[in-house]
Amino acid sequence: MELVFASNNQHKVEEIQAMIGSTIKLKSLRDIGCTEEIPETGRTFAENAGQKSRFVYEKFGLNCFADDSGLEIDALGGEPGVDSAHYSGSRNFEQNMQLVLDKLGDSENRAARFKTVISLIIEGEEFLFEGSVEGRITKSRTGTGGFGYDPIFKPDGYDISFAEMSADEKNRISHRAKATEKLISFLKSRY
Ligand code: IMP
Repeated sequence: MELVFASNNQHKVEEIQAMIGSTIKLKSLRDIGCTEEIPETGRTFAENAGQKSRFVYEKFGLNCFADDSGLEIDALGGEPGVDSAHYSGSRNFEQNMQLVLDKLGDSENRAARFKTVISLIIEGEEFLFEGSVEGRITKSRTGTGGFGYDPIFKPDGYDISFAEMSADEKNRISHRAKATEKLISFLKSRY
């Protein structure tokens, strides 16, 4: 079976291909000639992931999955949420982190989680897979690895931030890894 991963990140596509095995052939957006910007206007991760997978299914008639991720902070009513990538009005990671730190100030309620939702569309039917990792927002940045909000997020049970972990260590516990594992076991059980 052929399956599109609605992503342009060839590295992510190859990584998941290696985990799925050879009965499913993964294709990226570039592989299918999808060059336009796919709309992402939902107010939840599931809506956005579903918008992307449905776009490909309807336009190209191909089975597809898409993901959407972000950070939810309890004391900010779940912000930045679906606005994680451009919370400060720009896609600048530094400015986005600074806005979170400024908004939280000295607040002691720093509980937060990263979430990923994957929407899979097979022959028009949608299946959702969710992964999350609970943690807290630090008072200042630590570490230089990762991306996005990693320097200000410490997962529960750890005294280091995501940005201080090796890529392997983060990949073992991350929201994205958990959602991806669920998708892969679903696909393996069916195909
Ligand atoms: P995407 O849906 O995977 O593109 O994630 C949207 C935004 O959420 C990113 O631009 C980051 O700001 C934030 N984000 C998602 N996953 C992570 C992560 O693992 N670490 C840090 N930030 C993340």
